[in-house]
Amino acid sequence: MSPPAIAPGTYRLPAEVARSVERARRALGDRGAGPNPGWVAALTGASRKEILRGLSELEDLLPLEEEIRHRHLAAGRANYAQIRGPFDLYLLTRLLKPAHIVEAGVSSGVSSAHFLAGLRRNRRGTLHSIDRPTPQRGSELGTHESPVAIPRGRSSGWAVPEELRDGWDLRIGPSERLLPTLVRGLPKVGIFLHDDLHTAPHLKFELRTVAPRLAPGAVVLADNTDWTGSAFPDFAHQVGVPSFRRGRTDFVGLAWPAQPPEL
Ligand SMILES: C[S@@+](CC[C@H](N)C(=O)[O-])C[C@H]1O[C@@H](n2cnc3c(N)ncnc32)[C@H](O)[C@@H]1O
Repeated sequence: MSPPAIAPGTYRLPAEVARSVERARRALGDRGAGPNPGWVAALTGASRKEILRGLSELEDLLPLEEEIRHRHLAAGRANYAQIRGPFDLYLLTRLLKPAHIVEAGVSSGVSSAHFLAGLRRNRRGTLHSIDRPTPQRGSELGTHESPVAIPRGRSSGWAVPEELRDGWDLRIGPSERLLPTLVRGLPKVGIFLHDDLHTAPHLKFELRTVAPRLAPGAVVLADNTDWTGSAFPDFAHQVGVPSFRRGRTDFVGLAWPAQPPEL
């Protein structure tokens, strides 16, 4: 069964906050990047006040958002690989204040940049990212090529502003090989994002690998779950927690329980 959807409009924003959100969205250059505060609240249990405080900080991210957009444009990309809800990733990071975030799938690094911006503001925590880059074949992105392909002369995370890179643990290679070692070396993971190879067996592998290290209240996210069948809802069912769909997208999340079952 598909997880229940939480629509963006369920959360009314005061005009001032809505203006900051709009400015950030324009600076990033993605009409679809608006936050879904109701979804973030469902995943974190955060109060309205906490959510609004986090969203009002988007005003301070404007230079970063501009830079991310310009880095894409300079590489001949009018848009990025379209992680849904980059501002939600920032918000989750600010609300949960995780010591460790793990993400699989970096490409140009829009998700990474928003996690890193949140961690920088928290003044603590590390982002661990894994990417097996997909190289762009020619000097321009071919019509049949995926936008996740890395432009010539660039590497995974190429759109992440320099000022955010300090302390970023970026590992290059397949998650099948790198994730188990990475996760074994971490005490607790506060956010996990699956955004790499969107197949059911791969998503299952990543969820099972990270599960033993998830902190109580950790948020587990997976994008493009329309491609991974029932893998995510099945996992949520095994863990015994609800999962939530971000609006009408197939970006889903769950909150890890304090007393998880043996998987
Ligand atoms: C959808 S993109 C990631 C988008 C990114 N999260 C963002 O916000 O822009 C997926 C990335 O995962 C990489 N990838 C695909 N299969 C992988 C695997 N098995 N292990 C690690 N990375 C993989 C792709 O090459 C690509 O760089």
